[in-house]
Amino acid sequence: MLFEKPKHDLDYLRGGWIFVGDTPFGDSGKGMATNFICYFLKQILGLPVEACVRPNGGDNAGHEVFAPWGPDGPQESYRGHVVPMGILQGVPALVGPGAVFNPGRLLEIELKNLADQGIDIDKVFVSLKTHIILPHYELLEELQEKLRGKDAIGTTKKAIGPTYEYRAKRAGIQVKDVIGNRKWLREKIEYNCKFINSIHTGYGLSVRPNDVYDYLAQYRDALEAMAVDEQEWYRRIREKGGIGVAELGQGDNLDNIQGEAPYITSSLTTIPGGVAQAGLSHKDIRYATLVSKGPYLTRVGGGSFFTEMSDEEADKFRKKGKEYGTTTGRPRRCGWQNMQSLKKALELSGADCICYTKMDITADQEKLKVWTARGHYEEWDGWKEKDIAGARELNEMPWQARQFIEFSEIDLGNLHSSIINLISTGPALQDMVVLDSFLKKPKQP
Ligand code: IMP
Repeated sequence: MLFEKPKHDLDYLRGGWIFVGDTPFGDSGKGMATNFICYFLKQILGLPVEACVRPNGGDNAGHEVFAPWGPDGPQESYRGHVVPMGILQGVPALVGPGAVFNPGRLLEIELKNLADQGIDIDKVFVSLKTHIILPHYELLEELQEKLRGKDAIGTTKKAIGPTYEYRAKRAGIQVKDVIGNRKWLREKIEYNCKFINSIHTGYGLSVRPNDVYDYLAQYRDALEAMAVDEQEWYRRIREKGGIGVAELGQGDNLDNIQGEAPYITSSLTTIPGGVAQAGLSHKDIRYATLVSKGPYLTRVGGGSFFTEMSDEEADKFRKKGKEYGTTTGRPRRCGWQNMQSLKKALELSGADCICYTKMDITADQEKLKVWTARGHYEEWDGWKEKDIAGARELNEMPWQARQFIEFSEIDLGNLHSSIINLISTGPALQDMVVLDSFLKKPKQP
């Protein structure tokens, strides 16, 4: 068998949720980890994974997730944005009530691509409450970035900010509006446009309600077929003892409250924030995992980056790790791992497990640097790619990499238990070291 079954009790997971979040700036591999966890639960443990959900954000997020290595070599990869990646394992997927999406980009690009690759997209749902990204929000975002001048945030230009802004103003459009009473939809659109036009005419923005209505009307039938009351959906899964997996977008330093404004996104990106935005309660959460690239970090967009490398150093990681935004194609800024920020992510998200990813990407560097939780850099011997790529057991990994894991545990203050329970050593689904303590029932504080 590819992976061993853990010996500890796993029944505690039934009827509850596993959350997957990220560390400071996102992009560490939540899609990959979600796909792996769904695969592991379903295929290896034979547990009923009945749902996956995307709690927050929209197609500002992006990832490329690889299928298992096939007998003929290179594996197929799937690009995802708002659809949580459990869908690759045939798990019903929900774009949650606290997320936002652009119907054109979801239906005509993301779902179409998945369907073309043989994924069953009839299992993708959207909440009736989810807010919709409207085309004119993109103009608003462009205007807002322009007004900031040199202090522009460097957003992904997907109009995530204005969509959350209009949700908070109580002037946004939800899925239930699009598929509901046509007269009410017209009234809502008129209010939305009145708002926008009265504030922004000075900047030459003028939006016609009829255009917005026609735009939304073309998606009415498709959205009607996908729309669910997420509370009923969750209730059914809970009552059956099914398990859900939630895949957040972004990372804690981009969180709308905890991140460093203004270089942040507009949703909540920590695991507790994810629970609320999914429409779940803290009692639903059974296990929480944070992903973090092993010994390096990346950031896209503006804002401070304490451990940022020189461009020359960054270039090595960028090339090898394909560190270009999946959504925008922008080169990602690269820096060294920062254990202080990892500790902060653990505090904010209350995770039971860390999944270190991309351990093969940092290979073939002579020396690695880590900013410790005690506030100084420590230098490490690197490891060779040929020694780590595709390792599935801790003792298959080179000693330098094992030492880095051990150091991380100690620096994070885990003297008697382990928290780095998943270690990804390559792009394919099965390139994962799964420690015995993975999914062990967390002790109550
Ligand atoms: P927005 O979410 O498009 O408004 O962008 C706000 C900030 O969050 C910018 O710095 C983006 O680069 C960053 N950001 C948004 N989504 C992601 C993501 O999925 N990964 C990494 N950075 C992101």
